[in-house]
Amino acid sequence: MKNSLKKLIIVANRLPFTIKSDLSFIKSPGGLVSGLTTFLKKSKIKDYVWIGWPGSHLNKSTFKIIKEKAKRLKNHPVFIPAKQFDKFYNGFCNKVLWPLFHGFPSHVVYDESYWETYIEVNKLFCNEVAKYVTLDSIIWIHDYHLLLLPSMIRNLFPSATIGFFLHIPFPPPELFMQLPWRKELLEGLLGCDLIGFHIYEYTANFLRTLSRTLGIDHKTGLILYQDRLIKVETFPMGIDFELFYNACEKRKIKKLVKNIKNQLKGKKIIFSVDRLDYTKGIYNRLLAFERLLLKRPDFHEKVVLIMVVVPSREGVEHYQRMKKQLEEKISEINGKFGKIHWIPVLYYYRSLDFEELVAHYLATDVILVTPLKDGMNLIAKEFVASRKDKRGVIILSEFAGSAKELGEAFIVNPNSIDELTNAIEKAFEISEEEQKERISSMQERLKRYNIIKWGNDFLTTLESLNEKKFKFSTQLLTPFLINEIKESFHKSSNKILFLDYDGTLVPLVSKPYLAAPDKELKNTFKITF
Ligand code: F6P
Repeated sequence: MKNSLKKLIIVANRLPFTIKSDLSFIKSPGGLVSGLTTFLKKSKIKDYVWIGWPGSHLNKSTFKIIKEKAKRLKNHPVFIPAKQFDKFYNGFCNKVLWPLFHGFPSHVVYDESYWETYIEVNKLFCNEVAKYVTLDSIIWIHDYHLLLLPSMIRNLFPSATIGFFLHIPFPPPELFMQLPWRKELLEGLLGCDLIGFHIYEYTANFLRTLSRTLGIDHKTGLILYQDRLIKVETFPMGIDFELFYNACEKRKIKKLVKNIKNQLKGKKIIFSVDRLDYTKGIYNRLLAFERLLLKRPDFHEKVVLIMVVVPSREGVEHYQRMKKQLEEKISEINGKFGKIHWIPVLYYYRSLDFEELVAHYLATDVILVTPLKDGMNLIAKEFVASRKDKRGVIILSEFAGSAKELGEAFIVNPNSIDELTNAIEKAFEISEEEQKERISSMQERLKRYNIIKWGNDFLTTLESLNEKKFKFSTQLLTPFLINEIKESFHKSSNKILFLDYDGTLVPLVSKPYLAAPDKELKNTFKITF
């Protein structure tokens, strides 16, 4: 991003800080928050504000104090009443858009009141954004919670510069078109100047959906819509490569790695860490581990699966049901195979802090990142970046966006338990030399396209569109322009005036001979035909 950066307005569902009931601030969870926070910090962008939900339902009497406190951190909370938030976040966002966009149409709950609340909450965000928009602001909206916001802002500020980035997959048209509100959602997004996706597949899905739903076509990702030029582009989100690469040198992390290894007394470690979500393929992972233990008795007592599941969206029934299903399977495996000195699956239902997370990445022999569908999946990238020792194997789902950049991983189809099991077996067999080759190539790529490059690419593209915007915009014939034309016409010694005819001086008609000038037009030009 050029240093001339104008004022940046970031809008996302979550603020980077969650405000607790005792009014203390803690860092919000999630890849979006950590990615954007790192980008803002590392690219030294100072002139910005971040608008979002404060992460919990707070008492109205505290709003003023919270606003003041948040403002010092450039945060501006959007307070959403609890009832409305339930229908918005648990409802439209996570029972409609999330399952459909991830290819789980049977999980979608079609409820008109969710949709109405989604519109209302997008309006709440719009009202807050409107307070900070100036002539030179750049508005960067994030994720599926705010698909209607771009057009709402555009209606208030027709010349605003607006970008949008989707952090989850964009589904193929056949799926998207199942939504009764498909047109409204697309028109909402078309308020943007730039729309970004993680990988080309999602960009192509979006462009195909536009053509089939609204009949809007594109030329190399450029769309002309309501006299505006909109660009649709791919920007694969990266990570803070150096942070993870150098983390192994930290004393605290070294100690934690040693602890994990000592506790497990030389056993091979398979690691998995995810937010609790049916899209992550966690259950299939357990089935594969169970099958491995059945197939390979020689692995008994020599291998453990450390499974970390991070609590998430506990207000949605599918998530509650899934937790139960996972925990039952884990007890079944441990009950069937475990011994007094060997628990095959070590299960944690909590989040890990940065040091603990990297220590697990470093202590691991094999990591399983096998979502059924995932926009990008930064865990895969973080694991690879952390391994300065060039050791370890990653088994990665072909349906994670990151698989496009991590081709040297063991790429699997997570729907096949056999394929997963075989991949784990094979992962234990490959030489240190091969591990090194694979990890090194992937690290080179991640180093080049890191989180800074991602953010800079998006914002520079958005800024460059501003110049094009002027070129393509319709020029109104103002009195000033009329005068300019008159003057140049009178001054010229060879006078020719080029005018558009069909559709300008006369209406468009089916046959050319019907396009005759009427009396008014003839009088205007004082010409006798
Ligand atoms: O992947 C989309 C995303 O919104 C991430 O940004 C975030 O890490 C994750 O989903 C969890 O989201 P939330 O806890 O806000 O529902």
